[in-house]
Amino acid sequence: MGRLNGKIAVITGGNSGMGLETARRFVAEGAKVVITGRRRKELDAAVKSIGRNVTGVQGDVSKLDDLDRLYARVREKHGHIDILFANAGLAQMAPLDQVTEEFFDLHFDVNVKGLFFTVQKALPLMRDGSSIILNSSIAGRMGMAGMSVYSATKAAVRSFSRTWTMDLKDRKIRVNTLSPGPIETPIFGKMGLTADQTREFGERVLEQVPMGRMGTSDEIARAVVFLASDDSSYITGIDLCVDGGMAQI
Ligand SMILES: NC(=O)c1ccc[n+]([C@@H]2O[C@H](COP(=O)([O-])OP(=O)(O)OC[C@H]3O[C@@H](n4cnc5c(N)ncnc54)[C@H](OP(=O)(O)O)[C@@H]3O)[C@@H](O)[C@H]2O)c1
Repeated sequence: MGRLNGKIAVITGGNSGMGLETARRFVAEGAKVVITGRRRKELDAAVKSIGRNVTGVQGDVSKLDDLDRLYARVREKHGHIDILFANAGLAQMAPLDQVTEEFFDLHFDVNVKGLFFTVQKALPLMRDGSSIILNSSIAGRMGMAGMSVYSATKAAVRSFSRTWTMDLKDRKIRVNTLSPGPIETPIFGKMGLTADQTREFGERVLEQVPMGRMGTSDEIARAVVFLASDDSSYITGIDLCVDGGMAQI
C-alpha cells in the first residue's frame, strides 16, 4: 500500500524538474495528481510520461484567473485537495546595480504573489488535516552575490509558512517549507547566464556543499512525500533543508 493512497494532490510547476519528479513519486505512492505549468507542450509531455492518475492544467500562477480556472478543474474532477505542493518558481541572477523594475516584479509576481494566491485559492478545497508544502530555497537564509531579489522572494515564502501554520491550525492543516540546496534541474538553463557563467556558478556553489555534489529531483521528491504523508503527522511550520549540508555549517 502506498503512503499517499487515495490522496488528491496539486503540484504547481509540475511539468519540469522537482515538481515533475514529485508528481511521479506521488502517483507511485497511490495519489491522484494535478500538475500545472505555463508551457503546454512540456505539460502534455509530463502527463504522458507519468502515464496514469495525472491531469495537466495549463496556467500561470501569477495570474489569478488562471488559478481560479485550475481550482475549478480540480473541484470538477476530484472535489477536494489533500496535498498542495506550491512549487512553481523562477530564479535569475543579476548584480545589485543591474536589477530592473521588470526583473524585480517578475520574481515577486511568480515566487511570492503567485505562491500566496496558489495557497489562498486552494483553501476552500483543502480538507481539514491536509498538508501544504511550500518550495522555498536555502537562498532565503544565505547571502549569495547576485541573488538578492530571488533570495528575498524565498525568505518571504518561509515567512508565509510560519504565519499560515497559525492561520490554519484550527483546520489541522499542516504547513511546511522545503528548502532545496543546489538541485540538478532545468532551472540552471533559465537563469540568464551564458554556458561558461553557469559552469562557474555551479563550481562556486559546489565548493560550499559538504556533500560535494548537486542533489537530484528525486531526493527532493522523497522529502516532499515525507512532508505530504502521515510519516510527518507531528510536523508543521518547519523548514526542511535538502541541501547536502550547504546551509547547515
Ligand atoms: N534547482 C535548484 O537548485 C533549486 C534550489 C532551491 C529552490 N528551487 C525552487 O524549486 C522550484 C522548482 O524549480 P526547479 O529547479 O524544479 O526548476 P524548473 O525545472 O525550471 O521548474 C520550474 C517549474 O515552475 C514552472 N513555472 C515557472 N514559472 C511559472 C509560472 N509563472 N506559473 C506556473 N508555473 C511556472 C515551470 O513551468 P513553465 O515554465 O511551463 O511555467 C516549471 O514546471 C522553484 O520554486 C525554485 O525556485 C530550485
